[in-house]
Amino acid sequence: MTLPRKRQCRLDSICPYFTRFPLTFPLSQLAENNPQKVFDPFCGGGTTPLAARLLGSQAYGMDSNLLAAVISRAKLSSLQPASLINHAAAILAQANHDEIPPAGEFWRLCFSPSVLRDLLAFRSHFKTCLISELDAALCATIAGLIHGPGNSIRGAYLSNEMPSSFSPASQLLTDYWAKHGKNPPEINVLDAIARRACYLFADCPPPVPGQILLGDNRSSECYHPFRDIDCIFCSPPYYGLDAYYSSQWLRMWLLGIEEETPGRLDQDDPACYTRDLAAVWRHCAAISRPGTRLILRLGKVSERHSPDPKQLLTDSLEQSAADWILDGYERVKTVSPKTYRAFPFSLPAERPPVEYDFWAHLET
Ligand SMILES: C[S@@+](CC[C@H](N)C(=O)[O-])C[C@H]1O[C@@H](n2cnc3c(N)ncnc32)[C@H](O)[C@@H]1O
Repeated sequence: MTLPRKRQCRLDSICPYFTRFPLTFPLSQLAENNPQKVFDPFCGGGTTPLAARLLGSQAYGMDSNLLAAVISRAKLSSLQPASLINHAAAILAQANHDEIPPAGEFWRLCFSPSVLRDLLAFRSHFKTCLISELDAALCATIAGLIHGPGNSIRGAYLSNEMPSSFSPASQLLTDYWAKHGKNPPEINVLDAIARRACYLFADCPPPVPGQILLGDNRSSECYHPFRDIDCIFCSPPYYGLDAYYSSQWLRMWLLGIEEETPGRLDQDDPACYTRDLAAVWRHCAAISRPGTRLILRLGKVSERHSPDPKQLLTDSLEQSAADWILDGYERVKTVSPKTYRAFPFSLPAERPPVEYDFWAHLET
């Protein structure tokens, strides 16, 4: 299998969420292994399913977080921009616009009143309808433009100035906007959606068979839709790095989620974490063919005392009681602090984690 000429894909920029590796890494690794059916049990923002799609492999994934599952589903979508734009227009046209806007300085300074009114209409729609491909693609599109830097591309983002990859705490933002006299932009939400939908979906790669499931990967029942997998490719949450809700709370608000959702790997102590990972490797083995490759990235948060990822991984493979054989590992080149920080706010972890890539296979 050769790498596609276009290594980046517009769908990759749907929403910069949870990504632990650039698209080029799964692309080159998958191309080397030439898999038919790729599965990511921690699919997050859908980098693995998208890489599988770009290579023409079947693309399967699972995540316990609704926002992650929605974004991953959108990355497998082949909708025409016009259907997304019409759907968005219909939701706004049918909305009663009777939702009471959230009170407080943050909401007053983050969005203009008309933008907030439209966002509330989408929010009440997404709270009940996120099943269809159309709703998932529209929701992911809006999640990608709900916040971001103010001045770079005029009208590209709906919020007052913010990072696009994560949401800092609301008080931090309110203080920053007040101190610098920054006001929310007046934007036509439908126009912004139309621009973004055309950018993302006008030139989609060919569709492939696949499915993204919202589910807890520790439970064997969630694996029924998947079988004959020949490549597992993933990046589990790093032990001690459990800041998803706190860094994505504004996007989750759009889906009606206002607190951390259940179903995440247990991080109470390394033994619980290893036990949970072992269950995932066991269930993955059960849906895989002999010889299936397991490729994963695991890291450790620098500033906290956390166990060695190599130890966590080898313990979990052993505890899985499945026939996984570890072939090797490699330390990932550290991201320079310059690219890791996002002006003018810093990410929750200020230093990049220490990360390793691991390669294993299922004994034949
Ligand atoms: C490091 S992120 C994955 C990043 C992904 N590779 C990407 O490119 O965006 C880990 C993901 O695992 C998910 N997760 C954590 N515990 C889970 C569980 N028990 N079942 C399914 N997904 C889980 C989290 O919601 C998160 O999206």
